[in-house]
Amino acid sequence: MKNLVVLTGAGMSAESGIKTFREMGGLWEEYDVMEVASPQAWENNPELVMRFYNERRKKLLKASPNEGHKGLVELEKYFNVQIVTQNVDDLHERAGSKNILHLHGELRKVRSTVDPNLVYEMDGWELKIGDTCEKGSQLRPHIVWFGEAVPKISDAAIICDKADIMVVIGTSLNVYPAAGLLDYAPNGIPIYLIDPNDVGTGNSNITFIKEKAGVGIQQLINILKEKYSLND
Ligand code: OAD
Repeated sequence: MKNLVVLTGAGMSAESGIKTFREMGGLWEEYDVMEVASPQAWENNPELVMRFYNERRKKLLKASPNEGHKGLVELEKYFNVQIVTQNVDDLHERAGSKNILHLHGELRKVRSTVDPNLVYEMDGWELKIGDTCEKGSQLRPHIVWFGEAVPKISDAAIICDKADIMVVIGTSLNVYPAAGLLDYAPNGIPIYLIDPNDVGTGNSNITFIKEKAGVGIQQLINILKEKYSLND
């Protein structure tokens, strides 16, 4: 089976009711990113940072995967699908996708502030001051903040390097190193980009599907079925 690598961003979950970051009405219009999503913010005002992520988690628990997430699961019938997501939600998992790499962390996990290897799943939505790891230190959101290293970027680059087909969905490609992953796609492979708005890529080899994720993925499935003569 061919390797189909999918890079997803906030737009992937927009139809599930999760806000994107940089659009009008997006999260970074409502909040100053450095005040809620940086190591400095955590040092200066951990309550505010926790409240921000608690709010996100609470909303996520009420959200469900959309047609776009489900379409990516359908693609597993025909391809070896590997998802590399910038999203911290668990909607790809809940839709049933098998291979998911979270570049920017996971909202439903927390981790120790003294030992980054101590990562815990959360049942509910609320993380509080005084919630500690087994070594007694405060727990923090398991999120990659601005100014922090992206530990999984090398794994993601290796995955992209092995792609036979690449699909980019719902990301403004503004945030590095994630946006640079497109450069790891082998020269000449087909690349599809699904987004209802224009996204600049600097790559001329891209087929744009200017639709929301739900409709766009159905179109992509039809394109790929025809191109590779795939039968149900
Ligand atoms: P952005 O908010 O920057 O971009 C969202 C993209 O989704 C835009 O290109 C929209 O046009 C598109 N979009 C909106 N609705 C859509 C829909 N229904 N279907 C498909 N696409 C849609 O979000 P990201 O590129 O994901 O990092 O942002 C990258 C990172 O910046 C995030 O992971 C987050 C943020 O700061 C951290 O918090 C570390």
